[in-house]
Amino acid sequence: MKKSKLLYEGKAKKIWQTDNDNLYIAEFKDDLTAFDAQKRSQAQGKGALNCKISANLFRLLEKNGIKTHFVECISENEMVIKKADMIMIEVVVRNIATGSLTKRLGIADGTVLPFALVEFYYKNDALHDPLINDEHALILELVDNESELEELKRLGREINVVLKSFFDKANLNLVDFKVEFGKDSEGNIILADEISPDSCRFWDKTSGEKLDKDLFRHDLGDVKVAYEEVLNRIQKVIQ
Ligand code: TMP
Ligand code: ASP
Repeated sequence: MKKSKLLYEGKAKKIWQTDNDNLYIAEFKDDLTAFDAQKRSQAQGKGALNCKISANLFRLLEKNGIKTHFVECISENEMVIKKADMIMIEVVVRNIATGSLTKRLGIADGTVLPFALVEFYYKNDALHDPLINDEHALILELVDNESELEELKRLGREINVVLKSFFDKANLNLVDFKVEFGKDSEGNIILADEISPDSCRFWDKTSGEKLDKDLFRHDLGDVKVAYEEVLNRIQKVIQ
């Protein structure tokens, strides 16, 4: 498979057209950004780590009946993905309060939530990805109807159940994560984008140590060492 035209360059990935009309290539970059890209850096090898972590998690989710855009890895930092029309909603699922939730609602950092909280954010950099409710999503025509919103919530919760119990075996608390979805050529809603320590929070269950992008956001430690640790733990659980 050959990359042809660059279709889109985001903060962490490039999406390439290929010689197959139904497939794209996602190239994972070493760039690190936070706070709407006001803070920027690079970590050599981060793209490859996120590509491998995402591939493993997409395979795990597929095994558990969740459709994803993942096809196969073709290099250290490139994967073939199915073409999908992206839904411009970031679906955030939270098990433990931290980050913007504690700031917005004053819930103490580290509070275990009584149930998994699903939130929608409007994927729009110019507006800084604001939190939206179901009615905002319908008015903005981000989805076709209410049942699609229900499906996004159901998928978010199902993904959470699979990933939470998987990471539990890796002695990691899945604190929260963000996922994005698209529609495939048949109109099915499939999981797209990536699932990596850039888009999830992981806390070691014993020490509470953070093993995700919060290390970069708040200058708490070496991102690459932490992401390598996450990949190693994933590989151990999969074996
Ligand atoms: P938040 O607490 O900053 O709202 O983040 C919630 C989760 O979503 C966390 O795991 C990080 C992830 N996330 C992204 O992947 N991209 C983003 O742009 C933001 C703001 C959060
Ligand atoms: N990913 C977003 C950015 O790069 C925000 C974040 O993750 O903190 O700006």
